[in-house]
Amino acid sequence: MRTTRTQVGIIGAGPAGLLLSHILHLQGIESVVLERHSRDDVEAIIKAGVLEQGTIDLMNEIGAGERMMKEGFRHEGIILRFDGRDERIDFPSLTGGKSVMIYAQHDVIKDLIKVRLDSGGDIRFEAKDVSVYDLDTAQPKIRYRDKSGVVEEITCDFIAGCDGTQGICRPSIPAGALKVHERLYPFGWFGILCKAPPSSDELIYAMHERGFVLVSTRSPDIQRMYFQCSPTEKVENWSDDRIWAEFRARLATQDGWVPQEGPIFSKTVIGMRSLVVEPMRYGRLFLAGDSAHVVPPTGAKGLNLAATDAQILARALTAYFKSNRSDLLYQYSETALRRIWKATRFSWWMTSMLHTFPGTDEFQNRLQLSELNYVTSSRAGAMALAENYVGLPIE
Ligand code: APR
Ligand code: PHB
Repeated sequence: MRTTRTQVGIIGAGPAGLLLSHILHLQGIESVVLERHSRDDVEAIIKAGVLEQGTIDLMNEIGAGERMMKEGFRHEGIILRFDGRDERIDFPSLTGGKSVMIYAQHDVIKDLIKVRLDSGGDIRFEAKDVSVYDLDTAQPKIRYRDKSGVVEEITCDFIAGCDGTQGICRPSIPAGALKVHERLYPFGWFGILCKAPPSSDELIYAMHERGFVLVSTRSPDIQRMYFQCSPTEKVENWSDDRIWAEFRARLATQDGWVPQEGPIFSKTVIGMRSLVVEPMRYGRLFLAGDSAHVVPPTGAKGLNLAATDAQILARALTAYFKSNRSDLLYQYSETALRRIWKATRFSWWMTSMLHTFPGTDEFQNRLQLSELNYVTSSRAGAMALAENYVGLPIE
């Protein structure tokens, strides 16, 4: 067995792990990133696509924002569609000039891997059988098998568990040391990618009695759309014609709006849940991103929460290595969780306001419509949505 050491061992080359590794590098702190998939695979997985103002700023500050600024689409508002009409929420005028960027998560990943490798970063793809131990000692360790089958043990000062919902870090923490808060939603999203021009200049969040619809985009030629479905819905049951008929029905407006249709080349059903793990630390293992929390996609918060966790953890580790201060490490979980719970509340609220719940009644429907009317007619209501959507500050 080969043995090596590093300051911070990072498991997972998603947004959380890659951002953490690069921010630490810029502070002169070394890390090793272990990723179970190949580089091609992590660069290809299609996930979220909305970057908050703070995530845009972070990408630029760390030198990874060039392509995003060229190819991403700045969106200064969203459309809420209900009662067959559109109401717009304007971000800059409600948030002191902030907006969001539509830029796919796999493009963020590509850009981060490139800057990390160009600056000498150590990312080990196709790392198998990753395990962590001695977590409650001063020398936590990671063991894994590399591409050629050689087993290596890395002794670290700290380990960052950035390995998403299916990772090994959270399950390595002894039962009883963590509290898990979970809420399952009684519906899912049926997501499609299609080859068509954009149907709208801005994202449309549509509430309809047949269920919620989101009209999003990926590029001038590729569109991303979702409709609310049963969590157990099967993609085989949905021909392209049936999908477009459903979108047309749910997106209909009084003035006859129709979506731009085109060949559908991807159909997936995603479940919806909220999950928060407390605390986000055990000994010298720190959890960041999806390994510690999951939000439903309605508020587009998953990727952005991973980015803020990475920033908060990097700041705490930097204070430790450069100024010999442990206080920020002790506060990491509490600081990160305050913001995570706010995003959990926001994504739960957006989900509840816009979706049709099984067994719902007219009273509930009127309340949801009334909430949409309030949010779009009161400056205070619109501001509450806008400031959460563009991202709350890190405390
Ligand atoms: N060993 C090594 N790597 C692992 C392991 C393991 N045992 N388990 C998981 N990984 C890797 C995954 O292959 C993935 O590349 O960890 C990475 C985790 O990345 P993400 O799932 O993207 O999680 P995170 O960085 O927290 O970003 C959260 O991703 O899923 C979206 O909606 C979510 O946008 C949010 C963002
Ligand atoms: C997406 O484009 O995938 C997307 C956009 C906004 C959301 C969720 C998903 O709220």
